[in-house]
Amino acid sequence: MIAVESQAVGTALIIVSFFLLSMNVDNFYFIIKNAIPKDASDGFTVPDSNAFGQSFRDYEGSVRLSIVENTYRLNHINQTYDFVKRTREEYAKLNKAEMSIWEAIELLNSFVDESDPDLDEPQIQHLLQSAEAIRKDYPNEDWLHLTALIHDLGKVLFHSKFGSLPQWAVVGDTQPVGCAFDESIVYHKYFKENPDYNNPAYNTKLGIYSEGCGLENVLMSWGHDDYMYMVAKGNGTTLPSAALFTIRYHSFYPMHNKGAYQYLMNDEDRENLKWVQTFNKYDLYSKSIVRVDVEKVKPYYESLIKKYFPEKLKW
Ligand SMILES: [Fe+2]
Ligand SMILES: [Fe+2]
Repeated sequence: MIAVESQAVGTALIIVSFFLLSMNVDNFYFIIKNAIPKDASDGFTVPDSNAFGQSFRDYEGSVRLSIVENTYRLNHINQTYDFVKRTREEYAKLNKAEMSIWEAIELLNSFVDESDPDLDEPQIQHLLQSAEAIRKDYPNEDWLHLTALIHDLGKVLFHSKFGSLPQWAVVGDTQPVGCAFDESIVYHKYFKENPDYNNPAYNTKLGIYSEGCGLENVLMSWGHDDYMYMVAKGNGTTLPSAALFTIRYHSFYPMHNKGAYQYLMNDEDRENLKWVQTFNKYDLYSKSIVRVDVEKVKPYYESLIKKYFPEKLKW
């Protein structure tokens, strides 16, 4: 009996794990945020409805909570200064693949479909829904449309071509390493198990950084944001600085949502902050039951890709 029950629990855990893995990161964030009691000391406040006035799904449940919490636990323990530096150097080589932006979208899409096609919208729908929503409200900012389209492409890190990185090294909120972990970071308590937590070189307010040094000089925990920034930059994109900032810091919730780490920011960061905050609304809450017709909008996005990127990129 016990064996049957534990098998059932195991199966349920596997199903939920696949479900979480197949979610786009925005849903992942939403789950994470809803997984935390609203009166928790971390203090997340979640809107009651999305950009279209619809209610979000309710994911309350202890199994999910433990999976999400565990991902953050692993993130906070393993994202050390040394890990980030080493990993960043490896991926900065951009020697894992050569493909166009659209091919990367399709790769991400097929990857998610393989995980569990029935459980959620394909990745391409999340990318196009956020891009189309922002396009509607900012029709003249074509760079913002393209930013939305590509912002999550760094999640190819899940793919075997890119080393099949675990969730804690791909998705979830990001934070600086090399200085003290701000109290506003979700599940902050798990940093106590991070070796950097007790390292006097890294555990002061400024750590290895100086006041106002600018975020571009700050090492961030490794994930899909920084990777896509490196790919865009390394392939000579002509996207403006606000676009690169948005791609690089869209998961840096302590900064753009909590106002933390302002002492590391410079004037350019403060200028760009408003764009990542604008983008965030569309990233999180543009999810719609209306699917975007991919073939209909593809020519428009192909023209933007052509404007801002080379045809083939090194990844
Ligand atoms: Fe996203
Ligand atoms: Fe993301």
